[in-house]
Amino acid sequence: MEPLACLNGEILPAAEAKVSIWDRGFLFGDSIYEVMRLYSGRMWIEEIHFARLRRSLREMQFPSVDLGRMRERIGRLLAAGEVREGTVYIQVTRGVAPRLHAFPDPPVSPTELIVIRSYEDGPTALLRESGVAAISQPDLRWKRRDVKSTNLLGNVLANEAAHRNKAYEAILVDDGIVTEATHSSLLWVREGRLEATPEGHEILPGTTRAGLSKVASGEGLPIQAGRVTLEELLAADEVILTGTTIEVLPVVSIDGHMIGGGRPGPVARRLQSGFRTAVANWLATPEIVDWTAPS
Ligand SMILES: Cc1ncc(COP(=O)(O)O)c(C=O)c1O
Repeated sequence: MEPLACLNGEILPAAEAKVSIWDRGFLFGDSIYEVMRLYSGRMWIEEIHFARLRRSLREMQFPSVDLGRMRERIGRLLAAGEVREGTVYIQVTRGVAPRLHAFPDPPVSPTELIVIRSYEDGPTALLRESGVAAISQPDLRWKRRDVKSTNLLGNVLANEAAHRNKAYEAILVDDGIVTEATHSSLLWVREGRLEATPEGHEILPGTTRAGLSKVASGEGLPIQAGRVTLEELLAADEVILTGTTIEVLPVVSIDGHMIGGGRPGPVARRLQSGFRTAVANWLATPEIVDWTAPS
């Protein structure tokens, strides 16, 4: 079924949604986005996604965006379609204005897009079982990677290199230190500790990683802040990617070097099953839909 979109409040087939060539998202990449996973028609860790969206908009000095209204629109879009297993894509641009770098003055209405698409997890489920290959690439991105902006050229180039090398992901290295991957957060296990790059401007604060940190603590393996060189990462016992659709995905090789004997390790397996249990428990609780809740 053709995905449905909601563009500035109007629901229509995604293929019919059109944005002006003067839209600042198109011209400057002056836009913010979010992607949420729908399980059985419900938005997983919705509050964490909305908190990140709110923060990205604030950090980039967007004019106020009514996130309560956006939630209400998502509800209408969900009701209009039939998607149960899927993704909710949100993009907000600084709006349509003559092409000048400085913000439109007075501000114009932001362009607000929501697209709900179905998502078939089967192929990714197979990868979760086998683990994936990754390559390393220089991190060419800008200095505010904590903002989920659509300026993704650095991510695109590195991911294309991975694709050409028949790898699933590219692990990004900045000035000798590993940051994260092109569209996923990175965790590793060494000396019995589960570690990840600390939150800050160098990486996107992953919502899956945030949601998983409770699971990891429950398993007696809290996610601890750490930094590694590529060489140290290659020597790690396990390397794990996390993200909205991949969930918890073990990496079994980097640049052709085997990680952890070339098989998903025990920590990855514990996190995978903890994640699935957390989703199942959440789905078993009644849904509270309050679109009027303050945002
Ligand atoms: C650069 C980057 N890091 C990490 C992530 C994982 O974030 P999340 O868990 O919110 O999907 C993404 C997701 O798109 C990403 O683009």
